[in-house]
Formats: sequence, C-alpha cells, structure tokens
Amino acid sequence: MKRILFVASECVPFVKTGGLADVVGSLPKAFDPEEYDIRVMLPNYFAIKEEYRCNTECIYYFQLDDRKYVGINRLIKDGITYYFIDNMQYFDGLVPYYDLFKDLERFAFFSKACLSALPLIGFRPDIIHCHDWQASLVPVFLNTQFQGNPFYRGIRTIMTIHNLRFQGTWNVGHIRHITNLPEECFQPGRLVSPFQNTSIRKDDWNCSMLRGGIVYSDYVTTVSYTYAQEIQTTNYGEGLDDILRFRKDRLWGIINGIDYTEWNPQTDRNLAKNYTVRGIKGGKRANKVALQKELGLAENPDVMTIGLVSRLTDQKGLDLVDKIMDRLCQMDINMIILGTGARNYEDMFRYYQNKYPAKVSANIRYSDALAHRIYGGCDALLVPSAFEPCGLTQLIALRYGTVPIVHETGGLKDTVKPYNQYEQTGTGFSFYGYSDWELMDRINHAYWVYNETPDQWMKLCQRGMKEDWSWKSSSQIYKQLYDRL
Ligand code: ADP
Ligand code: GLC
Repeated sequence: MKRILFVASECVPFVKTGGLADVVGSLPKAFDPEEYDIRVMLPNYFAIKEEYRCNTECIYYFQLDDRKYVGINRLIKDGITYYFIDNMQYFDGLVPYYDLFKDLERFAFFSKACLSALPLIGFRPDIIHCHDWQASLVPVFLNTQFQGNPFYRGIRTIMTIHNLRFQGTWNVGHIRHITNLPEECFQPGRLVSPFQNTSIRKDDWNCSMLRGGIVYSDYVTTVSYTYAQEIQTTNYGEGLDDILRFRKDRLWGIINGIDYTEWNPQTDRNLAKNYTVRGIKGGKRANKVALQKELGLAENPDVMTIGLVSRLTDQKGLDLVDKIMDRLCQMDINMIILGTGARNYEDMFRYYQNKYPAKVSANIRYSDALAHRIYGGCDALLVPSAFEPCGLTQLIALRYGTVPIVHETGGLKDTVKPYNQYEQTGTGFSFYGYSDWELMDRINHAYWVYNETPDQWMKLCQRGMKEDWSWKSSSQIYKQLYDRL
C-alpha cells in the first residue's frame, strides 16, 4: 500500500475558485483504495461550506513555533480522509485568498503546519504531492528544517504546477521573516533567481516560493504536455524557465481529467433535460430554450448560443473578446457569460449586455448550477486564453456535446482537435496566433458549420462527447510516477 498526501489550498466540494479545486477533489478518487491510501490536507477556511465545516471533528491540536495554534480537523467523505488545518486568525475570511502579502504568511504557516501534523495523526506518507505555490514550501521545509527528525527522512515530494503565473513572490527579507528558513535557501538558484543582481541588497532580492518547490521537490509535474514544454521558454516561463529547463528530466506534463460523475449530461440534475450521445439533438434544444428563458433571452432553439465560463482575468483572452464583441453581435447569436474577477472585465461584459440586451447575457457571479446549465444548453464554448496550463471548461464542454472554440496553447492544444470538414474529424475549432481576427475567423467558421451544415455540426458534437476525458488514463500516468518514487 502506497501512502500519499495531497497538500493544496482548495478542493471540491469544500472550497473552489478555479480548476485546482476540481483536480484536487477528483484525482484522489481515481485510485484503487486497496493500493493507494490518498489523503488530502487543506486550510480550514471559514469559507468552507457550512454543511462540511460543521461536520469535521477536531482530532488534535498543538502549537507551532512561536505559539501559533494549529488544530487538525478531520472529515472522511466518499472514502477519502481530509484534514483541515485550523487557525482562525489565518483562515477566517469569506474567501480563500486575500491579498498576496497576507497570503504569503498564511500559506507558509499552512505548509509548515501540515508537515508538523503528520507524526500526531500517525500518517507517514511515502509521497507528498504539493499543488501550486500555496503548498510549495512543503518540499523546502521538508529538506531543511525537518531533516533532523527521522520521521521525515525518505519522504518524497512532487510539485504540481497548475499555473506558473502565481508564485508567491516577495523579497528575501520578508520571506525569511515569515518562514525562518535557513540562509542556504536564499542563495541564488534556490528560492531566488540565479541571475540575481548582486549589487542590490540581498534582503531586496525577489524570492519565489514556487521556485523553492521546484528546486527542492523530487519531481515536478504540470497539467498538460504542451504547457510542460511552453514553460521552459522565456515567453511562458514567468522567470522560472531556467530552473524548469534545468529540471526537464524530472518535469512531466500530465493532462487533467474531469470527474465524470459530477459532469454527466445523462444524470446532471441541473439540466432541464438529460441526454446521451444519441439523444443530443433534442437534449441540446430543450436545455438551450430553458437557459434562454432563465436568462431572459428570446426562446429560440435555432440561434447559435456561445457560452463563456471563466475567471475574468488577463489569462483568459478577454481582451480579444472585447475586440470582437461588436462584430459578433451583428450575427444571429446568443452570447452567455458566467464569471467573476477583474473589475474591468466584469464591467466590459455588463456594458455589452446593456448594448445588446437581446443577444448578450452577462452573469457576473459564481454559480455551479448555472455553469452546468451553460455547458448543457450552449452550442459552443469560447476559451480564447492567452495561456492555459490545462483548462477544464473545454473538457466539460466536450462531455456535454458543446463545441469548444479555443486558442492553441497549453492544454487547449492537447485536448481540442481542429475540425476538418473534408475528413469529418475533429472536436472543435482552434486558432493559432493570439489575435482578434484569428479568433473571429474561427467563430465565423463555426457559425457557418452550425447554420449551413447542421448534420455535420451534430456529428462534431457527438465526436466530442464520445471522447474520454475522465481521469482514467491520466491517473495511470500519476500511478507510474508514484511507483517510480
Ligand atoms: P482556471 O482554474 O484557470 O480558472 P479551469 O478551466 O481549469 O480554469 O477551471 C475552471 C473551473 O471553474 C471550471 O470547473 C469552471 O466550470 C469553473 N468556473 C469558473 N468560473 C465560474 C463561475 N463564475 N461559476 C461557476 N463555475 C465557474
Ligand atoms: C489552473 C489553470 C488551469 C488548470 C487548472 C487545474 O487554474 O489556470 O488551466 O486547468 O489550474 O489544473
């Protein structure tokens, strides 16, 4: 039996801001519990849904370093053991993240508390699988401050990068202050770049927690094959391409899967009508009309309906969408947006809804239920991201027979096969150069196929539905990695 501990800052169904939560919530379930004992550690945020937070049981508490309280709360759900690291001073907010300055200290505390909790709960993992910068100090602490204790010797670590843009970066002085890490960690090439300008004071050097995770872990993975290549270039490397190239033999790109029980048009309770590959035509029409009704658009099953479900940030290619909205709204379409994030993008979509109320529905909020209905009721889903480590929305779209229109980058490139009308192959539409006219060109093509060759459109939807983007094959690759360690 292999023992594996996931350390992460979010996890479905407890707390979610993006795809990280989906992955941490669904990947552990893809393993045979007879062979792998996978447990998950999370912060005990006040933001965790009450139905879960109230049902955890405090199994231990202790004091960390300078007398900081750490409670360990446990909940067993669907066969998986979850531990919630409790400290109300750090995790009392209504959202999991505040501002970076505070978050650095909160997650440094979290990482250290996770390691310190292990002997108490009597769980000595063979492997600690750390997700994103919030957990990236775990390998660093493990290989420095915790090495004196025999309990921790021989524990292996994997650092999974879900998004290289977020690294937990501040200056050396502050990171040293909140972590107490030994001076060796702040040598150029460790938590700081090897190309440090040594003429400035060391305390002012930039220090990246995620770089630490990459340097100190045994293996590094990221969430698609293409992104694993991209991040080794200066364009996508976010200042860490040097270390990623250096560690390329230990860098694996493993594409994400989605939870096929949660995302299933055949059983989805949020939908007006459930459907299968064979019944897709009727299913789609019924769900589209129900969605139009819900959102106050004219009910018309024939109009091409394009969805966009996304965090509203620069990453997601919304600058391109801004440039094409006026042209798009000259066409006979509906555009349905669901998302929250940067104020400028939220206002941008409100503006277009105001300008084209009959065509655009801007839903500036977070809603799982509406997301399900958008995947079910739309004909196409737009994912024009500037970069996308994996992307889950296009996978969910495929599962629901909704045709993804994507930028060929990262996981989008690895999962959406471009439509070829001559060979009748492909599952979506994709554009190569990151420009508004290429995006517009691809939407035009999709629009034409939808309106002029509806039978072929249906086949396109069905090919997407028939693919398998569950964890079935990717969990095998994680297994190989776990076994290798
Ligand atoms: P990222 O993690 O970069 O945000 P992903 O595509 O990996 O992007 O995952 C996004 C996840 O969050 C998907 O499950 C998507 O359905 C969901 N999501 C994003 N925005 C919203 C929203 N406003 N309401 C409901 N779900 C959302
Ligand atoms: C990140 C990425 C996204 C990926 C998700 C889960 O949030 O932006 O592309 O799908 O993590 O790995």
